Parts: sequence; structure tokens; C-alpha cells
Amino acid sequence: MEYRYLKVEKKDGKCVIAINRPEKLNALSGELLKELECAFYEVCDDGSTGVLVITGTGKAFVAGADIGEMKGFGSIEAEQYSLQGQRVFGMLEKMEIPVIAAINGYALGGGLELALSCDFRIASENAMIGLPEITLGLVPGFGGTQKLARIVGIARAKQMVMLGERISAAEACHIGLVHRVVKAEDLEKEVDALAAKLLGLGRVALKTAKYLINASADLPLAEGLNMEARAFALLFSGNEAKEGIEAFLSKRKPEFRRG
Ligand code: HXC
Repeated sequence: MEYRYLKVEKKDGKCVIAINRPEKLNALSGELLKELECAFYEVCDDGSTGVLVITGTGKAFVAGADIGEMKGFGSIEAEQYSLQGQRVFGMLEKMEIPVIAAINGYALGGGLELALSCDFRIASENAMIGLPEITLGLVPGFGGTQKLARIVGIARAKQMVMLGERISAAEACHIGLVHRVVKAEDLEKEVDALAAKLLGLGRVALKTAKYLINASADLPLAEGLNMEARAFALLFSGNEAKEGIEAFLSKRKPEFRRG
């Protein structure tokens, strides 16, 4: 499909979606969110994609929701918009394949909320990260108040949401908000290396791991442990565990994705 605000590239099992509205620092309009939703459906339907990368063109990852568009909102439109973003970003969490946010610059407001919905966050050292909604008299509405604390803890989340201050990539890494910080010119290479690593692992084991960890946020421990034991057991009826165990015992590299 052709997109106005997205560049989509697929190669060797990896799909890169670059948000491409650089003149507005990739601000998320309703139209752009609709395009993202379509692109995510396409990725879900395409069995040949094993890892998804989200990034931005120009100097921003995403500088947030489109503030100009929000100016005209009443409460009904605002709620619809919030639910739209939550639904679209939620698709990344439910997606069976791993999703990497390549944070190439500003990741603010809705932009950080997009990154929070990804499994991995790699940031370039010039990235600035934050949830500045409070400075607009608002609160995050694409999941930030709920998801940030689960990643960095309640104290840090309150600091970021209630003060609205931007933090550097290095600080974001220090508090566990991003997994790695790299030089801007190395971002693509580092993200490719992570994607290649993920593509070399078992697809079913990866999707199971992602599902279990995401589910842990909503489940009492006993239920989560029970689900883990059943999932662990199920993996023994597939090929990946056979291959992984056999490869280890015969001192060779496993080949999880043959054929
Ligand atoms: C609309 C935006 C925008 C945004 C930048 N632009 N961010 N337009 N929505 N979120 C536009 C600017 O208006 C400008 O357009 C162009 O992009 C370049 O931006 P500048 O401000 O000139 O760039 P710079 O001086 O480098 O400053 C970069 C910046 C600043 C620090 C990132 O743009 C900024 O503070 N942006 C807003 C960040 C923010 O508050 N995000 C949270 C939004 S609320 P023109 O046409 O003038 O050239 C949110 C809510 C999510 O995300 C939940 C909703 C339910």
C-alpha cells in the first residue's frame, strides 16, 4: 500500500516503518495514526516479516501528538483520539514478532508513548525523551501514564509525567527506559545487528516470551507462573526446542528458521 506519511521497507525478514512528516517533526495526526494502523495490519498479515523497526525521518523520532490538530478538540474528539492512539500502539504489544524503536531524535509525548509500546528501544545519543503534556495543561493519552511506570517505576514516572522535563538518551538509558544509546551515525547499524540477532532466534519461542512478559503486567503471580509452565511445556511439542537442545548438545549453532 502507498502511504503519505510513512516509508515502509522490507528486506531479509525485517520491516522498517519510518514516520515521514519531518516538516512537523513527525507529529502524529489522526491521518498518520490511521496509516500506522494499516501498516501494522500489513506487517501482521505478512508471514515473511520476523522483526519490525519503527523510526522517524529527519531530526525527530516523533515529537508527539499533533498539537495543531488537538487545538480544535472538544472532549469527545479528545477521547476518540486517545483511544485511537492506544489501540494503534497496542497493536505493537500484541504483535507476535519483536518490535524495535530506533529513536533517532526527539521522542516526546505521543512519540515516547509509541516507543514505550515497542519491545526494544535503541536511542541515538542526541535523542531527547520526555512526556511534556503537563506543560500543555494535559496528561499523556496514548498510554504513557500507565506504561511508563511499568518500565521505570512509579517514582521516575511521576517525575517525568508531572514535571514534563525532557531527559537525554544517556539518562533514559540509566533509568532503564532505553536499552542502549549509540552514536547517531551507528544507529542503523546497531538496530540492524539487534534485528539480525532476533531473526536468528526461534520465532515461536520469541513470540511466547513476549506474550508471557506482557501478560505478567496484568496477572497475579500464581496465574502468570501457571501460564509460563504451560507455555514452556508447549514448546516441547515444536521444532525449535528440539533444534536448540540438539544443537547445544552437539556443540553447533542452532538453525531455528530452516526452510
Ligand atoms: C505539531 C509540531 C509538534 C507537535 C513540532 N511541531 N512538534 N507540530 N505537533 N507535537 C512543528 C513545529 O510547530 C514547527 O512547525 C516544526 O514542527 C518544527 O518544530 P520547531 O519547534 O520549530 O523545532 P525546534 O525549535 O527544533 O524544537 C523542537 C521541539 C519543539 C523541542 C521538539 O518542536 C517542541 O517542543 N514540540 C512539541 C513537543 C510536545 O509538546 N509534544 C507533546 C505533544 S502532546 P512550523 O510549521 O512552525 O515550522 C502529546 C499528547 C499525546 O503528544 C496523547 C494524545 C492523546
